[in-house]
Amino acid sequence: MSEYRTGLGWDSHRLAAGRPLVLGGVTVPSEFGLEGHSDADVLAHAITDAVLGAAALGDIGLHFPDTDPQWKDCDSLVFLRHAKEHVLALGYRIVNVDATVILERPKLSDYRQAIRDKLAETLSLDTDRVSVKFKTAEKVGPVGEGRSAESQAIVTLQKLGTGPWVESTAPPLT
Ligand code: C5P
Ligand code: MG
Repeated sequence: MSEYRTGLGWDSHRLAAGRPLVLGGVTVPSEFGLEGHSDADVLAHAITDAVLGAAALGDIGLHFPDTDPQWKDCDSLVFLRHAKEHVLALGYRIVNVDATVILERPKLSDYRQAIRDKLAETLSLDTDRVSVKFKTAEKVGPVGEGRSAESQAIVTLQKLGTGPWVESTAPPLT
């Protein structure tokens, strides 16, 4: 019998003019982008926390302190790849990811496929194991007023033996 574990992630970043809007590693054309120490990819951060959380490995700030100049303007897919490699090493495989981005505008659905493909490639998963959804906040609160964006994510891991696995040695999901 396999052991399954679930992790939850959440993140929020302020919107500002002149910043890029990077979601799941994809730059979406927008007047406003996300502010933060790294590239502020709110979706990648929520998924990274969900992967780490499923294996009780703490959170993104523990692994990548935002006081460390090394991570300034960093591509957040680096964090996500690190979380994947960490859980693989402990004998886990990622089964699936489901996430929601809450952003008033721009409309994101045209970018869904590109974002899913990029996240799937980063996590070494088939795209059908990665779900990304979009919501507005109906003009209510900081997200609804266009001052910030939020993301939520949930991830399931399957434990396959004791590991340590790397991509090339990991057994397939059962
Ligand atoms: O927030 P609301 O329920 O009105 O969103 C309706 C739909 O609009 C969502 O299911 C999603 O497909 C799309 N949407 C989007 N980009 C956003 C917010 C919502 O494509 N920034
Ligand atoms: Mg963040």
